[in-house]
Amino acid sequence: MTAKTESVTSVVPNDEGKEKFKKSDDVAFYRRQIQGPKLTHQVLLDTLVLTEGGARFELLQAVTKARLLLSLSAHKSDFVRILVDEVQPIKPRYRVPDVIVGEQRSEPLRVEEQTEDVVTLSWSSRCYRVRVWRIPFRLEILCDQNVLVTFNYEDKLRFESLQHPPSLSCEPPRCFLQLQEEQTGSWKETFKEFVDVKANGPSSVGADLRLHGFNHAFGLPEHADGLQLRETRGGEPYRLYNLDVFAYDLNSRLGLYGSVPLVLAHKADRTLGVFWLNASETYVHLEYSSTNLQEAPPVKRKRTPPYTDVHWLSESGVVDCTVLLGPGPRQIFKQYAELTGYQALPPLFALGYHQSRWNYRDEADVKAVDAGFDLHQIPYDVIWLDIEHTDGKKYFTWDPDLFPDPVGLQRHLQTKGRKMVVISDPHIKVDPFWSLYDDAKKGEHFIKDREGQVYQGSCWPGESSYLDFSSPRTRAWYSRRFSLKKYKGSTTSLFVWNDMNEPSVFDGPEQTMPKDAVHHGGWEHRDLHNLYGFYQHMATVEGLITRSGGAERPFVLSGSFFAGSQRFGAVWTGDNVATWEYLKISIPMILSLSLAGVAFCGADVGGFVQDPEPELLVRWYQAAALQPFFRGHSAKETKRREPWLFGEEVTAVIRSVIQQRYTLLPFWYTLFHHAHTCGLPPVRPLWVEFPIEESTFTVDDCYMIGGALLACPVTEPGIQEVQVSLPGPEEVWYDIHSRQVYGGGGTLRLPVTLESVPVFQRGGSVVCRSVGSGTCTADFQRLPLEITVALDSQGEAEGELYVDDGHSFCYRDRKAFSLRRFSMQAGCLLCRAASRGGSSHCGTMVQSVTILGVKKQPSSVTVYIPGEEDTPASFEYVESHSVLTVYNLKLRVTVDWEIHIC
Ligand code: NOJ
Repeated sequence: MTAKTESVTSVVPNDEGKEKFKKSDDVAFYRRQIQGPKLTHQVLLDTLVLTEGGARFELLQAVTKARLLLSLSAHKSDFVRILVDEVQPIKPRYRVPDVIVGEQRSEPLRVEEQTEDVVTLSWSSRCYRVRVWRIPFRLEILCDQNVLVTFNYEDKLRFESLQHPPSLSCEPPRCFLQLQEEQTGSWKETFKEFVDVKANGPSSVGADLRLHGFNHAFGLPEHADGLQLRETRGGEPYRLYNLDVFAYDLNSRLGLYGSVPLVLAHKADRTLGVFWLNASETYVHLEYSSTNLQEAPPVKRKRTPPYTDVHWLSESGVVDCTVLLGPGPRQIFKQYAELTGYQALPPLFALGYHQSRWNYRDEADVKAVDAGFDLHQIPYDVIWLDIEHTDGKKYFTWDPDLFPDPVGLQRHLQTKGRKMVVISDPHIKVDPFWSLYDDAKKGEHFIKDREGQVYQGSCWPGESSYLDFSSPRTRAWYSRRFSLKKYKGSTTSLFVWNDMNEPSVFDGPEQTMPKDAVHHGGWEHRDLHNLYGFYQHMATVEGLITRSGGAERPFVLSGSFFAGSQRFGAVWTGDNVATWEYLKISIPMILSLSLAGVAFCGADVGGFVQDPEPELLVRWYQAAALQPFFRGHSAKETKRREPWLFGEEVTAVIRSVIQQRYTLLPFWYTLFHHAHTCGLPPVRPLWVEFPIEESTFTVDDCYMIGGALLACPVTEPGIQEVQVSLPGPEEVWYDIHSRQVYGGGGTLRLPVTLESVPVFQRGGSVVCRSVGSGTCTADFQRLPLEITVALDSQGEAEGELYVDDGHSFCYRDRKAFSLRRFSMQAGCLLCRAASRGGSSHCGTMVQSVTILGVKKQPSSVTVYIPGEEDTPASFEYVESHSVLTVYNLKLRVTVDWEIHIC
């Protein structure tokens, strides 16, 4: 969102204002890190100590004589953490709190081998070792005899020791110190009219890792770019600095709303992760060896194994780098989730369709839109209110004229099982007559400026102050605002949207908070900038949970995020534009977020800025219905675009798309259960499911939903035919619409109409759908299921279904859930409790089972339920498509049963 006042009406994206954001060359610490001389470190072996939690030793920098302390720990679930700090900093350096969850128990290390040059450390792991080279310092992680990763391979470990400020009080003409200072920007830096005074002087850190054997790297959201990370040699590095960027540039490495400093590297036999836990402004350079090879003249080309070099640079804090060792993508997801937390299990309604715009005008407007969905028989769950619902942009209030009866409005929606979401931004209007502002001020809940005064910046309400969510006391205070008693006009069916929490400050540098603003504990904003939105999200979630006495799952959407934000709920990709390019890029953006743990994500359907043509809108609905968070949203100046405003043909397609999303909710909900318990993201790049198939590594226009569905949304106009490469030469794929069977490993040309989106079910999988979509997810529990079993080439298939009450924490606190496993083998489909499953009963019935890939007409189909008589079942066989449908079933899904096909 641009720094614009209400009077500015145009929101057409242009390049104007783009230069309000820095390039890496504008950044002093980046220049110092990149341009500074190479520094070699040596390990002081006599300082090596084995501790309870691992090992530590000192490093000596040869030229500067600076000493660093490196702590090393290895963990049972196969990750290695490397922490570097000054031996004795003149004051503590910021270490990111609250991101790493639980107590990370590390393994005792032992010295396996030691010579003058090298020490090998081992732990309970059978294959992994760490080897530390003394001069120059290198830290290698090995699997058996193979080096997987080398930390400091390129000697880029650089640590600016904290210093006492130099005395710059010399007379003009400017003295040498002043001149030097202006060049290095160590104590003061100017960008446009903004002066950043650095209380701690130079404090940046940097380090490099070589990932041996890897040629493909992913992750590092949020950037509007392709899935595979690009080589940055000679260009801009990836920037991780949370910023509010209206109509952001595409194919760019500049920072957007959120940051997750996690790189995943993949090759056929291994996946690795590198997690750089630092919340200050961060840059990442990536270099692939293969580019070297391409550039070298052919004769000189040496067949060295490939590698990827990752160089991290951060403005402050310490080096805290965890290497996740895999070996496969599934283990990486689990290791990362063990570290930073699992995706929160959303309440079921949050997986339905959300209807938003900036703004629904008033109560009558909301009711009319709600009625429109019923009239046009389009299911939806939630209607959203943007900033204008408040009284003068004071969050937690309602405009008395436009929303005189918010409780009545929510009850009206609630009777239909629907919810409302309201926006709640972190800026608080400066208004001494507003009790919330007054309370926050008196309670010292605002961020201060460098002079110690409450910081003021401009945002939607005009002059505003910003809550200091980094303070646990402020978070608790903020959380309490969501109690039904305090938040007048709220009910239990009201949920929350945290926006502008990068934080966005219209008159701040790069439209955000000055880095020299001061937080709780005296930390500068520079230390924790990328954590700000994470903390607001945390506090809001806490507020909603507390509001229900700890019983109900919250739903909170946040614009800004950091590693670990997945524990709190959903995020979206911000102010995109209604063009085909933005639709296309939404797919890799969502895949990158998913890889980095932030699995409940989506993009504004239709594009936030500008008006989509009907074809684009339809294609966007089709794509977004196959993504985790599904919300239509648009900017204030855009034309209304409720699904029924574009003629019957468009309405019919959108209706069918949303209905199909609803029928697939049992499958989506199960995938979220897997994300919540195993760290597996619901949507996955193809390489996650086909890790040895190199041709899948760079695909970012098709992806997998779970392990079962391959989705290929159409993202270009006027398309009549699509080409789809079906992975896996051994695989069998079934077109979910036509039921046509295809072998994997080839490329298909498929005719498409405006109604069709290519989706294929993988042979070997089982997918559960609701029969019918209902009007919203409240209808879900009473809808029966249909199960689609897609047989692989061996005639086998398996899959799971997760069910619980859809809204409370009883699944966690009372194990009130059921995880069912379906497995088909030798003509027999079993429904059993999964080994990790709960055993709650629910009334959901299975109405039909469709088996794809049945080679011959069966003579009979029989249902077995333990303790009951065997019963023959009705069935139909379509030979041309090898499809068997067993219907008129009345099988409880939480009871064991079998279907035998003879
Ligand atoms: C910026 C958000 O990205 C957008 O979705 C929202 O509508 C506006 N802020 C107004 O709140």
